[in-house]
Amino acid sequence: MRADASRTQQTPRPTSAPRPLDPCGIVIFGASGDLTARLLMPALYDLAETKNLPENFYILGAARKPLSPEQFRNQMQAAVNEFGRFRPEDQSKWKEFAQRVNYFPVDAKKAEDYQRLREHLKELDRQYGVPGNYLFYLAVPPGLYSPIVEQLGGAGLAASGPRGRGWTRIVLEKPIGHNRESARRLNKQVCEIFQEEQVYRIDHFLGKETVQNLAVFRFANGIFEPIWNRNFIDHVQITVAEDIGIGHRAGFYEKAGAVQDMIQNHLLQLLCLVAMEPPASFEATPVQEEKVKVLQCMRAVNTGNAVRGQYGPGRIDGKEVAGYRQEEGVGPNSATETFAAVKFEIENWRWAGVPFYVRTGKRMARKASEITIQFRDAPLTLFACTAMQPCEPNLLTLRIQPNEGMGLRVIAKTPGLDVIGHSVQLDFAYSENFKQESPSGYETLLLDCMEGDPMLFARGDWIERSWELLDPLLKVWAENPPKDFPNYSAGSWGPPRADELLRRVARQWHLR
Ligand code: BG6
Repeated sequence: MRADASRTQQTPRPTSAPRPLDPCGIVIFGASGDLTARLLMPALYDLAETKNLPENFYILGAARKPLSPEQFRNQMQAAVNEFGRFRPEDQSKWKEFAQRVNYFPVDAKKAEDYQRLREHLKELDRQYGVPGNYLFYLAVPPGLYSPIVEQLGGAGLAASGPRGRGWTRIVLEKPIGHNRESARRLNKQVCEIFQEEQVYRIDHFLGKETVQNLAVFRFANGIFEPIWNRNFIDHVQITVAEDIGIGHRAGFYEKAGAVQDMIQNHLLQLLCLVAMEPPASFEATPVQEEKVKVLQCMRAVNTGNAVRGQYGPGRIDGKEVAGYRQEEGVGPNSATETFAAVKFEIENWRWAGVPFYVRTGKRMARKASEITIQFRDAPLTLFACTAMQPCEPNLLTLRIQPNEGMGLRVIAKTPGLDVIGHSVQLDFAYSENFKQESPSGYETLLLDCMEGDPMLFARGDWIERSWELLDPLLKVWAENPPKDFPNYSAGSWGPPRADELLRRVARQWHLR
């Protein structure tokens, strides 16, 4: 993500203008997997369509499967057709792109394969006019991060030269570790071989248009800063609700659960964007520093401030769906949480006493991600909204997906002879105001990696601190299996105890 960082009065470059990019080779480990097919290759093709790839580039899929380059290209064409923003119906466009797509079988743990890979990359560099710039994308199960990093180092593929010539960057998908200790170990190992500036820990939420908009909304509008604090804000709610179940991901999800899968990364990133102090400039280091400071001001979560849930059978969109324990690959007594709600507190001058409630779950009533800021009530009740009730508080809602946009709930006079207030909604919708389609999170983030801009990525210390906040909760939960699972029906808004978390302090979840 680029902004005019110079603080001069220069006109910022329009984001749609193609960026000057160094020629590079994009090497995807785990090329035969789901992530490559569903997200990475479609994003790369979309970048090609919008002319946002370097003039000289190539993509090398690497995986254990013995595929020919032709077979890999065919699989990727089908994937792009299914999942891309642009479908390569125009065969000539696909052919042009596909000429730069290659495949190389690699056993992630075999040193000799990396020697062969290094030689192959040299050949491809010559063929495509790339001066040894590599982006290694690890789209593999986390257990393979260590061996791949080690082998890349061993084969002399980790060293980075000056910008523009001979740089190497490595992209790691979440999860980075499963607690603070394992995250620290992995970070240490990676940073023994790569420099921190070479490491891009991806969180695809940070690439979403509406998530980036959070920073623009807060820091480009002078009217919000004076009220963005404990004097005016009662509390903040962040909900990321999904209607899908876990599909074929039981192997991963059974070990992870909602806190590790969503809260430790996506939801805490959103929280930091809402809560951070204005950065000195909109550049990687100041922004990342401010985000880490938010986590440093937070205390580890205790179980009294958290609720876990697991879905049972239910109905979504009029269709019967199975409970979590009936999903393929899930044990009949699984204690994995598919829902979690947590109250976080930030102990600094801006936020002391303002709770941040976050919740996420699978198989909830609908797919919706929103951040809601509830403002304090007017100091005096001069108007009623009905004969009996005072007016409702002002709410600012940032809709991340779907129906991307923002809304502000205010009170207006109901037309008529009596003075009665009524909640009305001021609304901004992306789809109505901007005609162009937004790039996917992966498009934005892949482009940032190629450009060498780490602002929208998670720094190692941020990750370790986020685990530190959640480790005690996860430990207690692991030691005390829930007795009431499943405790919410698929198609609902989660377990009743999540409502209770807010009701006991006379609040309620707004998204439902
Ligand atoms: C991933 C989680 O990081 O994010 C998934 O592992 C989740 O479980 C997904 O479904 C949600 O992302 P999005 O972009 O579909 O909201």
